[in-house]
Amino acid sequence: MRDALLISVLAGTFLMSGGGSAFARDQGPPPDKGSFDSTDCKACHEPAVTKMEQTKHGSLAESCATCHDRTKAMEHSKGRADGLETPGPSLKDMKAKDVNATCLGCHEKGNQEAWASGMHDRRNLACTTCHSIHAFKSTKAQLKTTTDSETCFGCHKAERAMAQRTSHHPVREGKMGCVSCHNPHDGSRPKMLKAESVNELCYTCHAEKRGPFLFEHAPVREDCVSCHQPHGSNHKRLLVQKLPNLCWNCHLTGSGHFGSGDNLSTELGARTAPAGSPSGFPTVNSRFVEKNCKNCHMNIHGSNSPSGAYFIR
Ligand code: HEC
Ligand code: HEC
Ligand code: HEC
Ligand code: HEC
Ligand code: HEC
Ligand code: HEC
Ligand code: HEC
Ligand code: HEC
Ligand code: HEC
Ligand code: HEC
Repeated sequence: MRDALLISVLAGTFLMSGGGSAFARDQGPPPDKGSFDSTDCKACHEPAVTKMEQTKHGSLAESCATCHDRTKAMEHSKGRADGLETPGPSLKDMKAKDVNATCLGCHEKGNQEAWASGMHDRRNLACTTCHSIHAFKSTKAQLKTTTDSETCFGCHKAERAMAQRTSHHPVREGKMGCVSCHNPHDGSRPKMLKAESVNELCYTCHAEKRGPFLFEHAPVREDCVSCHQPHGSNHKRLLVQKLPNLCWNCHLTGSGHFGSGDNLSTELGARTAPAGSPSGFPTVNSRFVEKNCKNCHMNIHGSNSPSGAYFIR
């Protein structure tokens, strides 16, 4: 039943992709189907074929020519059987785009739909840079490494270094992977994120930060990564900078807490505290006290308190 379904799926895909690939491969029931027998191949390539038979590509094992050049495969098989050193139909010399066309012939939907023109496509990565058909190490998705993060770390050294910092998403603990946030096949979204924007991505796991809030802190609404480094930081809570410097980037406290020294206030002109804001805060221009911004401005992501305009409640 499963096999019948699979075959019909594959047949459909073949019709749709209609020989767009640079490879020789089966096009429905081909007249030369019997020209070589994959059991011949198996006799000499036992490990490669056995491993493949255990995967979802198992039913393709009957037809090595789905991916390997048919003519070369036949010559090779015959030659080798006659004791000649006939080279195998290796995919190593294939251009990335040709390998990809073969794989995409069947994988043009779902997560791979927007492969074309993504950064990995543009930088000439092949599906087989990360995946293996015959010799893979992961339990999921046939990767050449045990985990997805190891695959990515092979090229993304900066992110690998950041993952070692004290504050980090639990990637190195194996509770999350790079693919928790990225789809490495997707060229349709900025930075191959798994959501339409950075904030939408963060909200999928940190829903409480979405609000709605009565009082929003503008940078939080706009872009979480203006304050957080998702790949890792040596400042606590993944902050891009330590407190209070982070706040001072945008809120330069000059001579006094309420003074016109505020970067934003300066731009907008000196402001006075709105009616209803807390009183009894006259001595706050002690720099020492001021530095612990978070002690008072504890709801820095937004507040739902009627008197939360300053995120102090
Ligand atoms: C009589 C034994 C024999 C038969 C039959 C045979 N091969 Fe090979 N094949 C070999 C040998 C030996 C090599 C060289 C292996 C090496 O260099 O490590 C090889 C190499 C290959 C390679 C290249 C490996 C690489 O270096 O990338 C491929 C692909 C391959 N064979 C596919 C096939 C397919 C498909 C068939 C069936 C159509 C087949 N072989 C039948 C013995 C055989
Ligand atoms: C879905 C595509 C696909 C099919 C079908 C396929 N191969 Fe391969 N084969 C590959 C790719 C890609 C490589 C390059 C190495 C890798 O990714 O594992 C490869 C490499 C090989 C190699 C050399 C590397 C190794 O692991 O020894 C052999 C031998 C081989 N294939 C034999 C076969 C035989 C025999 C069949 C049919 C029973 C077959 N292949 C069917 C895609 C395929
Ligand atoms: C003839 C069709 C066909 C071709 C060509 C093909 N695949 Fe597949 N592949 C399948 C099918 C069918 C499945 C199972 C789909 C599913 O589970 O949704 C699959 C599954 C996979 C999976 C998921 C395995 C898992 O454990 O979840 C990966 C990864 C994959 N293929 C990679 C490749 C790569 C890389 C190539 C090119 C070298 C390739 N495929 C070529 C049909 C094909
Ligand atoms: C940069 C590495 C990389 C490249 C290049 C790559 N993949 Fe993947 N692929 C992955 C990882 C990692 C996963 C596991 C995703 C997950 O667990 O969410 C995956 C999963 C898959 C899956 C199975 C589940 C799914 O997400 O659909 C298929 C099928 C697949 N890839 C096909 C392809 C094809 C076809 C290509 C080439 C066009 C390709 N991949 C190129 C890394 C890669
Ligand atoms: C073979 C090397 C290689 C591997 C493996 C690899 N990448 Fe990349 N990736 C690149 C290159 C090259 C770029 C282009 C930008 C650059 O040079 O950093 C890139 C860019 C990216 C980008 C930025 C995309 C953009 O639009 O700016 C993301 C995100 C990314 N990769 C994620 C991943 C993830 C997740 C994995 C693991 C599943 C992975 N990469 C594995 C080579 C690789
Ligand atoms: C918690 C979510 C998350 C995880 C986990 C994650 N990333 Fe990212 N990544 C992001 C976001 C968000 C951006 C975009 C940042 C921006 O716009 O400045 C990004 C950007 C990138 C870029 C592009 C960097 C640039 O300067 O353009 C690369 C490459 C990248 N990530 C690789 C990885 C790798 C490799 C892993 C696994 C070690 C990983 N990411 C894990 C969220 C994540
Ligand atoms: C796939 C789920 C997921 C996504 C998406 C995600 N996170 Fe997380 N985040 C987590 C998990 C899990 C933790 C660890 C919680 C724990 O250790 O209790 C965490 C922790 C954090 C922490 C606290 C770190 C610390 O040192 O305590 C910050 C800050 C954070 N995430 C920010 C972000 C930002 C910003 C984004 C969007 C770029 C984001 N997260 C996207 C799952 C996610
Ligand atoms: C204006 C800077 C700023 C922005 C923008 C920002 N945060 Fe934060 N975030 C902080 C500060 C400051 C802390 C607390 C650090 C501490 O406890 O010392 C924090 C802590 C966190 C924590 C861990 C503690 C907690 O409150 O759960 C998470 C998770 C988090 N932020 C997620 C997000 C998300 C998601 C976004 C985007 C919607 C975001 N942050 C935007 C400054 C910011
Ligand atoms: C990326 C720039 C940026 C960073 C970093 C930042 N803020 Fe803001 N903050 C703003 C903007 C923009 C507003 C809205 C100003 C307005 O509407 O006049 C604002 C508003 C506020 C307000 C409300 C009062 C007002 O003027 O409307 C407080 C209180 C505040 N921020 C405190 C902090 C604290 C504490 C930190 C550090 C944890 C911080 N901010 C970090 C940009 C930033
Ligand atoms: C001791 C508590 C306390 C500390 C510490 C504190 N603030 Fe405030 N802050 C307040 C209160 C209360 C207000 C509201 C003022 C009012 O009621 O008029 C306020 C107002 C603000 C405003 C809005 C003022 C304006 O002129 O628009 C900003 C911006 C701000 N704080 C930033 C910071 C930053 C940045 C730090 C750390 C360097 C910090 N605060 C430390 C209590 C504090």
